[in-house]
Amino acid sequence: MTPDIKVTLAGVEFANPVMTASGCGGYGEELAKIFPLSKLGALITKTITPEPRLGHPPPRTAETAGGMLNAIGLANVGVDRFIKDIIPFLSRQKTRIIVNVAGSRISEYVEVCARLNDIERIDMVELNLSCPNVAQGGMEFGNDPIMTEKSIAAVKKVFKKPLIAKLSPNVTDIVAIARAAEQGGAAVLSLINSVLGTAIDIETWRPRLTYNRGGLTGPAIKPIALAKIDAVYNNCALPIIGVGGISDWRDVVEFMLCGARAVQVGTALFIYPDAPVRIIEGLKDYMKKKNIKSLNDIIGKVRKY
Ligand SMILES: Cc1cc2nc3c(=O)[nH]c(=O)nc-3n(C[C@H](O)[C@H](O)[C@H](O)COP(=O)(O)O)c2cc1C
Repeated sequence: MTPDIKVTLAGVEFANPVMTASGCGGYGEELAKIFPLSKLGALITKTITPEPRLGHPPPRTAETAGGMLNAIGLANVGVDRFIKDIIPFLSRQKTRIIVNVAGSRISEYVEVCARLNDIERIDMVELNLSCPNVAQGGMEFGNDPIMTEKSIAAVKKVFKKPLIAKLSPNVTDIVAIARAAEQGGAAVLSLINSVLGTAIDIETWRPRLTYNRGGLTGPAIKPIALAKIDAVYNNCALPIIGVGGISDWRDVVEFMLCGARAVQVGTALFIYPDAPVRIIEGLKDYMKKKNIKSLNDIIGKVRKY
């Protein structure tokens, strides 16, 4: 038996459920030297903003127990160079392409997405409504249900393909934000972005990041991501892409049992850049062993007490 690992999100079919998380594989050029990107369900790019950004000065990453902190500050080439220099490379890759977008005002999200709408090769846009590492990282949108709904509705007017809303765990009621995203016209949700955190150097008494705080990612946040996905899956109809601490195929099974229909791999890429390939193989072997024919037989099937 060959298990069926195809998944469909908002009417778009993906060869498998494993995607790269935004900001952890750049624009894919380095990863393509390690494995063919056609192995991925989708490549999700680093956040793109209207203007190029250098991000925060180093140090902007720090290792912590079971994870890492980052405050990169949305360093990226800006939408003009992205279209001119990166899209030609992405267009040659035989995988789904999802572009992650942020802005400091609703008009900036609209501006970038209007430009991307003209590009056939882009399958979806993921709106970063949740970056904790810059003053204008979308948190002022992602924190507030009304702003979440408004920003997605505004982008939907100019971007005609499906929109993914990427939500923050750093909120009191993620279900309210998820419902607002649905109301605004999002077709898919990504849960979760990084968890706000910091670390201090006890010799210098300085924070270990120049931004003073950052986003915690990696295995340390997996239980948080699973709990948020469980809450949203049971209270919102949108399909969910799970992200947060996924390192191997066992993690993916847990995310799917909690309701994720697809997954993203982030921090694990810094340790094993080929993690997505190993995960896909491990998932297929697990399905064969358990005689599971399709991922639909796993998604949301956690047996709760
Ligand atoms: C170095 C680094 C940079 C990131 N940059 C972005 C980004 O530009 N946009 C975004 O939406 N998420 C960004 N993220 C968050 C990831 O996409 C993901 O949501 C988070 O890392 C949790 O997944 P993980 O535990 O598998 O890394 C970044 C994460 C890291 C570690």
